[in-house]
Amino acid sequence: MGCAMRLIRGCAGVAMTAELLSVRDLSVSFTTEGGVARVLDSISLSLPPGEIMGLVGESGCGKTTLARAILGALPPNARVSGAALRFDGRDLLTLDPRVTADAVRGRAITFVPQDPFSSFNPLFTVGDQISEVLRWKSPDRQPNERIYARGRKRADRARALAMLRSVQLPDPERLLTKYPHELSGGQRQRVMIAMALLPEPKLVIADEPTTALDVTIQAQILKLLRGLANERGVSVLFTTHDLGTAWEICDRVTVMYAGQALETAPIASFFRQPMVPYTRLLLDSLPSRDVALRGIPGEVPSLIAPPPGCRFAPRCPLADDPCRATHPPPTEPAPDHQVRCHHPRIETVAA
Ligand SMILES: Nc1ncnc2c1ncn2[C@@H]1O[C@H](COP(=O)(O)OP(=O)(O)O)[C@@H](O)[C@H]1O
Ligand code: SF4
Ligand SMILES: [Mg+2]
Repeated sequence: MGCAMRLIRGCAGVAMTAELLSVRDLSVSFTTEGGVARVLDSISLSLPPGEIMGLVGESGCGKTTLARAILGALPPNARVSGAALRFDGRDLLTLDPRVTADAVRGRAITFVPQDPFSSFNPLFTVGDQISEVLRWKSPDRQPNERIYARGRKRADRARALAMLRSVQLPDPERLLTKYPHELSGGQRQRVMIAMALLPEPKLVIADEPTTALDVTIQAQILKLLRGLANERGVSVLFTTHDLGTAWEICDRVTVMYAGQALETAPIASFFRQPMVPYTRLLLDSLPSRDVALRGIPGEVPSLIAPPPGCRFAPRCPLADDPCRATHPPPTEPAPDHQVRCHHPRIETVAA
């Protein structure tokens, strides 16, 4: 949000931004047969190096669309507008698409999908698929390099074996010869995490990476991802519809509702001092882990004809005319705690 920019001092005393990723007023709409769906409405967020930021919200609120917009991988019926989408000092909205494809997507920013099975090609071994990633996205690859030289191939294989050990997959030599269907769901997701880390990215976008796994495996994968990201100083943008998962892995969370970001806070303040009515209602619905407003009258609005102001207004107990008329501007009622709400409540909830 506008006021959340953190500054650090360079050694020459020059102020530099500390953000790795900075999204300002990003909107995305999709042209559909039923009309134009305004799927993301003026989203702002920022992510410093090394932080795990959760994007939390119920299914359909726009998490994957935001992840794809950052990756530059939206489908052709999408229209993006925004003030800025800055990553590591570059504006991704204006960057040459060839540079994005070569140096950003799959290299500086990598992706862990929700369903590892459908993301693998069933016809090729795990080794072939890792090799293909490293052929184009290895940290050793020089720009415009066309031939996959034997020396680099050998170094990449050693790199892959070491990474498979880091994601705690035993016997990695044998694993490279297997086909995706020969692996369990947890093993496939470990391979996906390895493939996402192999290019030595600065940012990993993990889009509900544990949703398809059973609960025990989920916990192991979250612990692994958190450990590896912290160890390597990699930032993670982690989407989830599950508050329990957000608590397990995230340093900070942004809560989304129907394409709007309503509240961003460090994980402890988020749970102890939620300020926006939507967030408070979500937390009231715990211990249910899923983000869903069970028992709250009303439905998520149509994204083709959304309410003009706050999109939660039709269901919000505090909604008044300003809420219905205007999308609230970003404010920071407490340090490092940003909201877009006309009536945030500031009080500490007992632990
Ligand atoms: N290619 C597309 N064309 C039209 N609508 C889409 C497309 N992709 C996603 N949507 C719509 O955008 C909204 C947000 O979807 P998505 O970003 O996948 O949400 P989430 O990941 O939070 O479940 C949904 O209403 C979805 O139907
Ligand atoms: S802006 Fe108004 S309607 Fe929206 S969450 Fe805040 S109080 Fe509720
Ligand atoms: Mg999604």
